[in-house]
Formats: sequence, C-alpha cells, structure tokens
Amino acid sequence: MKQIILTGDRPTGRLHVGHYVGSLRERVELQNSGKYDEVYIMIADAQALTDNADNPEKVRQNIKEVALDYLAVGIDPKKSHIFIQSMVPELTELTFYYMNLVTVSRVQRNPTVKAEIQQRGFETSIPVGFFCYPISQAADITAFKATVVPAGEDQEPMLEQCREIVRKFNETYGETLVEPKIVLPKNAASKRLPGIDGKAKMSKSLGNCIYLSDEPDVIKQKVMSMYTDPTHIKVSDPGHVEGNPVFIYLDAFCKPEQFEKYLPEYKNLDELKDHYTRGGLGDMKVKRFLNNVLQEELEPIRARRKEWEGKLPEVFEILKEGSAYAEHTAAQTLADVRHSMKIDYFDQTDLY
Ligand code: TRP
Repeated sequence: MKQIILTGDRPTGRLHVGHYVGSLRERVELQNSGKYDEVYIMIADAQALTDNADNPEKVRQNIKEVALDYLAVGIDPKKSHIFIQSMVPELTELTFYYMNLVTVSRVQRNPTVKAEIQQRGFETSIPVGFFCYPISQAADITAFKATVVPAGEDQEPMLEQCREIVRKFNETYGETLVEPKIVLPKNAASKRLPGIDGKAKMSKSLGNCIYLSDEPDVIKQKVMSMYTDPTHIKVSDPGHVEGNPVFIYLDAFCKPEQFEKYLPEYKNLDELKDHYTRGGLGDMKVKRFLNNVLQEELEPIRARRKEWEGKLPEVFEILKEGSAYAEHTAAQTLADVRHSMKIDYFDQTDLY
C-alpha cells in the first residue's frame, strides 16, 4: 500500500515553537525520510472560518504567514504538495456525505471540540459548521487516502473520529477509504509545550508564544521573562524541574552537543537538572542557556523565512500548483466515493 501523509494547520496566526516541536519538525523529518510516496500539507482556511466566520480578512492574511512558516522550517515544495483547503472543493462534498455517518452525540463527545466550545464561549450558540469540523477533517484526510497524519496530541480525537467514519463508510458502501494513523512527537515535552507564562498551552490570544518569525532580541526577552519555579526564590533554594517551562523547553529543544558549546560545566541535561533540584543553580543561568539553544534552532528558520518573504509571487505559485495537484487527487477519491455510494448516475447504464 502507498504511504501517504496529510496534515495541516488553521491559518489564524503565525506558527510558534509549540507548533514546531509539536508537529512541524516531525513533518520535515518524515518528508525527508524518503519513505512516503506523497506528502500533502494543507492550510485549513475553511476550517479556520468555522470559528472566524466574521473575520475573513484574518484568515486571508494568515494564508501567507503559514505558507512562509512552512517553507521556513523546511517543508520543501519539491517533495510536498502545499495547498489551500478551500481551493479543493471536493473536500466539502465529501464532508456532506460523511455527515450521514456520524451522530450529533458522537461529535459532542469529542474532547477537543468540547474544550474549544468552552474557550470560545459557544456553549449556547455553537455554529453548525464549527460543530462539524471534525467531520470535514475526516474528509481532508481520506480524500488523499492518507495513511499517516503527523499532528499534535490535541488532534488524536479527530483521528479517532476519522477512523470511525472510514470503518462505517467501508462497512456500509464497500471497501473504499483508508484508515489513517497519527504520528505524535517522540518526547513528552514536545507533545505539549507550555506558554512562556507557564500556562498549559501556547496560544496567540494568551500572548505567551515564541513565534518562529520572532527576531533574536524578542526571543531573548521572552526567554528571560519566562515563568519558572515559583518556590525557587534564592539561588541556593532547591528547585523543581517538573512543570517548569524552562526545563520543559530544554527537554524539547536542547541537543547533547550544546552543553559543550554553551555550558561546559555540565555534561548533559540530567546533570543540569540535578543541580537545579539540589539548589545552587540560578534561573538566569538556565535561561541564558535556553536562549542560546533556541537562537541556534530558530536562526536558520528565520533566515529562510526572510528569503521567501522576498519572493511572495513564487510562494503563491507554489500554493496554486499544490492546490491543483491536491484537487486532482481528491477528485479521484470523490469518484470512488460516488461510485461506492451509487450516486455515479452517468457513469453507469443500469438505470436505463
Ligand atoms: N485541526 C487542525 C488544526 O487545528 C488543522 C487540520 C485540518 C488538520 N484538517 C486537518 C490537521 C487534517 C491534520 C489533518 O490546526
């Protein structure tokens, strides 16, 4: 069976380091592994509109930002098809058919949707489109017969729902669609990077993100202001590394060789953590190290982003070509779906 990747992001803001360790880094690795026959990376504008219906300009502007972030981290248009969701209308048609295979109560049970309804204050007035976005997400994935979806942990319920739709479809209409599996980041810290304020999630609205496009002085200032262990007041106090954002970021980002380069008194992260836990290691020293680590990782990304910013027509050409290719693939799946569902009237002669 062909190995196919499909994944994507909502264009509601620039991408940040949480997106990077949570999925982007993994995608680039998979893209370059040579193990995949096709890679599709989607800018989910239609999904973004499900809770930004009144703000199309925001979604429109962020198409470019997300595309630049993709190219900056190393998504390579020669290896991956980068496309815009709404430019592939077949996805909408698939969504409509899949809606028949899902119950309202099943969507209501989806923990990610539940949390989002709360965050957005939608409890009493949930837009139907928003409510159905997990179904549209199943369309995104199955349209490309994707086998693998590299994504963050919060996408797990969507994948679960998608697999259920696939099984139900195949059971009802005959073997047509492919069940995908999710690929999560390898280490726990990368799965759930907290905000710089220590809050559970990095989010634009909380203003606690480090963006991939941040300038070096902004990154430094954000790192130096990071929330740490509130019980670690004096340098000599014993500190806690668990739940401490500075150490979680180090778990997600730092490479063994960076100790020799920036902090040669310590052999590795375990030694640094031990010292912090014992007491006698100041937050500033750890933050300076984290700053060096982040600067090293983000410098080439920012440079590549600037290069692409200088050739936006080319970026849009990539999106246009990617969208045309994606539509071609999705149309084939839609034809299979229509055939299985017996709504391919003009391709058959049994009715006349
Ligand atoms: N829900 C994803 C996000 O919030 C975006 C998305 C839409 C997606 N369709 C997808 C992710 C299909 C993976 C697979 O960023």
